[in-house]
Order: sequence, then structure tokens, then C-alpha cells
Amino acid sequence: VGKYCVRILGLAAMLIVLAPPAGARAEPSPARQAELRHLVTQDCGSCHGLTLQGGLGPALTPPALTGKAPVMLREVILHGRPDTPMPPWKPFLTTGEAEWIVQRLINGDLTRVER
Ligand code: HEC
Repeated sequence: VGKYCVRILGLAAMLIVLAPPAGARAEPSPARQAELRHLVTQDCGSCHGLTLQGGLGPALTPPALTGKAPVMLREVILHGRPDTPMPPWKPFLTTGEAEWIVQRLINGDLTRVER
């Protein structure tokens, strides 16, 4: 009986070690980051402007986003804004990827994209 207990404990410990910690999100891979940059310039850019200075949608530049909660911005990207043209991107982006985009919109990294 003692042996079984040790085995079960061992298995449980292994599962805990293998499971990713709750809330931890890996950075997108470099290839996926390139895809996300393309998506932001081309798809988001079609409404927010190629340089994200605004168009049909508002500017997504660092000054325009000052004081806006990253979580709110992430939710708008994932779920869209009802009754506005802003569509939901959840079918194409994970939560972590939406957060990655928000961080780069806030620090201006995506507005400096070379093309
Ligand atoms: C079809 C046009 C359209 C596309 C495509 C689009 N947006 Fe929008 N977006 C809008 C509009 C319009 C608003 C403003 C909604 C409102 O009136 O509050 C908006 C709002 C936002 C906001 C909230 C800004 C704020 O200041 O509250 C964020 C963030 C955003 N969009 C990010 C994105 C990202 C990232 C993409 C691409 C993945 C994208 N949008 C693609 C039209 C679009």
C-alpha cells in the first residue's frame, strides 16, 4: 500500500510540474510575431490607418492610448465593440497575442514598423 501511495504522489507531483502556471503566457514565437505585425499594419491598419494614426477607427498610437487600461484594450481587440465597426478578433488571436499587440501599441513598437 505504501508503494502505491508513493507512486500516486509521484504522478501528482509530475502533473503539477508539467502544467503551465495559471496565467502564464508565452511570448509569441518570432514567426508568429512577424505575422501579428503584418496583421496589425494590414488588417487593423485598414480602419485605424496604415500608421495607426486613425481613420474609420481611432488612432492607436502611444499618445492616443495614454491612460487607457491595457485590459480594456485587449478586451476590445478580442471581442470588438458592439454597435461600432470594431470587429472581434478572437477567432484569429489568442489572449496572449492580443496582450502582445496591446503592449506594442502602447510602447509604439508597431507604429515604427518598416514597410
Ligand atoms: C472594420 C474596421 C476596424 C478594424 C478592421 C479594426 N478596428 Fe479597431 N476599432 C474600430 C472602430 C470604429 C473603433 C472605435 C469604436 C468606438 O466607437 O468606440 C475601434 C476601436 C479599437 C480599440 C479601442 C481604442 C480606444 O481608444 O478605446 C482598439 C484597441 C482597437 N480598435 C484595436 C484594433 C486592432 C488591434 C485591430 C486589428 C487586430 C483592429 N482594431 C481592427 C474599427 C476597426
